[in-house]
Amino acid sequence: MGVFVHICRDSGLQYWDVILGGNLMPYHDVLVIGGGLAGLRAAIAVNEMNASVGVISKVHPLRSHSVAAQGGVNAPLGNHPRGGHDSWKKLAYDTVKGSDFLADQDAVIKMATEAASRIHEIEHWGCPFSRTEEGKIAQRPFGGAGFPRTCYASDTIGHALLNTAYEQTVRFKQAAERRELAIYPEWLVLALVREGDECQGVVAMELKSGKLEVFGSGAVIFATGGSGRIYANTSNALINTGIGMAVPYWAGVPLKDMEFEQFHPTTLLGKNILVTEGARGEGGFLLNSKGERFLANYPDSQKAMEVAPRDIVSRNITREILDGRGFEGGGGYVHLDLRHLGREKIMERLHGIRTICLEFAGVDPITDLIPIQPGHHYTMGGISCNTACETGLHGLYAAGEVACVSVHGANRLGGNSLLETLVFGKIAGENAAKYVQGKGAAGKIGKAHERALKKTEEKIEGLLTRENGEDAASIKKEMTEVMAKKVGVFREERCLAEALACIKELRVRFKDVALRHRGRGWNLSLQMALELEGSLDVADAVAAGALSREESRGSHFRTDFPKRDDEKWLKHTLAFYSEDGARLQYCDVRPGPVRLEERKY
Ligand code: FUM
Repeated sequence: MGVFVHICRDSGLQYWDVILGGNLMPYHDVLVIGGGLAGLRAAIAVNEMNASVGVISKVHPLRSHSVAAQGGVNAPLGNHPRGGHDSWKKLAYDTVKGSDFLADQDAVIKMATEAASRIHEIEHWGCPFSRTEEGKIAQRPFGGAGFPRTCYASDTIGHALLNTAYEQTVRFKQAAERRELAIYPEWLVLALVREGDECQGVVAMELKSGKLEVFGSGAVIFATGGSGRIYANTSNALINTGIGMAVPYWAGVPLKDMEFEQFHPTTLLGKNILVTEGARGEGGFLLNSKGERFLANYPDSQKAMEVAPRDIVSRNITREILDGRGFEGGGGYVHLDLRHLGREKIMERLHGIRTICLEFAGVDPITDLIPIQPGHHYTMGGISCNTACETGLHGLYAAGEVACVSVHGANRLGGNSLLETLVFGKIAGENAAKYVQGKGAAGKIGKAHERALKKTEEKIEGLLTRENGEDAASIKKEMTEVMAKKVGVFREERCLAEALACIKELRVRFKDVALRHRGRGWNLSLQMALELEGSLDVADAVAAGALSREESRGSHFRTDFPKRDDEKWLKHTLAFYSEDGARLQYCDVRPGPVRLEERKY
């Protein structure tokens, strides 16, 4: 058992450390893994409840992928004349319909009822939203609503929200009357400390030195974002490898609904950088090689056109390309036309998109067409948890894209991911802080921490000492390419079975990975190999779930089973880790007031 000492580090921060085997072990009431919007909102909530919190993040929080969000965040504020009738009920209704009825309706209702409060809260913290003439938060149309509901800050909402949340953490760090809020930037979490059915901390590697440390805590919140980098064609940042899903998965926590991967209709040709849905919301057109607004030719998009839900628009773009009405090159593409919006509107509302187009495609949206193609964008599945953000493991919580609460079901509405981070980040933080209250950490320090540290150290030693093995970068390339080719917008049994077999073979080859660089400090090949193991297991869960689900629902479109099958498949997939790959089980979707027959576009 450990002994508590209260120490003062050089930083001036005070926090409880614990002596473990003669060494000091950092200890916080709650550890938050991930410094993006969900993680920071969770940390603020823990701190507000006067519990100590440590945020462990692979990058500086302001470099988290939340910063890349462009178009906006949904809330039924009714600030636009066309959205004056909006309400939380309408947001919930659209979210459930958009999810193709796979979302749990109690979770959706929770998100929808809290939406306006979370937006006004962050507005009051200083978030620089774009404004209407009267000074209210401006809203633009996004897919699934049919009127302007998405609150925006030009086309850089992620930057605005993340910086605002970070400012609050800095404010709390400096407030003497509060418990500590410590941030550990550039630390990679590699394992959970699990004792029985309880989570008691994590093992993390400091990237600068390669030093391993075990962190003790009363509760842990995972908020590490998505796993888009298992795909070659994704809008996700390089950091989104899926390791944050893999760590709880390895510890026995199931991943839910992993087969539901969102493809964003408009990513920049070849680079797959996001070109926001806001561009279509502001009035942009999608054109095929004949110059037609082809969405009018498909029954499921002819009403909402460019602002139909993402799964529908992505499929119809892909159909145009496959049927020869797109353009060749780079996997095929169509055009996004913003020219009719005019310079002034583009400069005011889509300035970031113009810069991306100029710098990465050499086209100016004011005068030129933008070459776009659907690209992987978002992981709807994730760590299985309930509306309180609790997983099945006591003391382990999840929030944001890494989690599956589930509010997005089979297809997320644009603008709902940021909303989810704010709503469920707060809920996770509050519940974790409540969970640790009065628990005291003594008695929790011991063998499980030592075991987890030793096992992780052995894994790293194995990678650093093996001679002449497999090349991790080649394995990663094969994984991302097979996922893009065979587990994409359209899926069918043969391709999915081939993808799954390929991932399984790569998992075996991974066991022989050897590194050329053997140092510990800033060893990016070591980091990549450690994360690749997680990516492969996440990819395996995605491919296994997709092969097994013999229906089409939301983003999961099976050409061999083109219909939604509520009779057999109105259920969530749960993937449990095993050495041989994902073991699948199923559980019920929680229904609610929105009924199945209401899906009409
Ligand atoms: O298109 C976008 O700006 C992305 C928004 C989202 O994924 O919610």
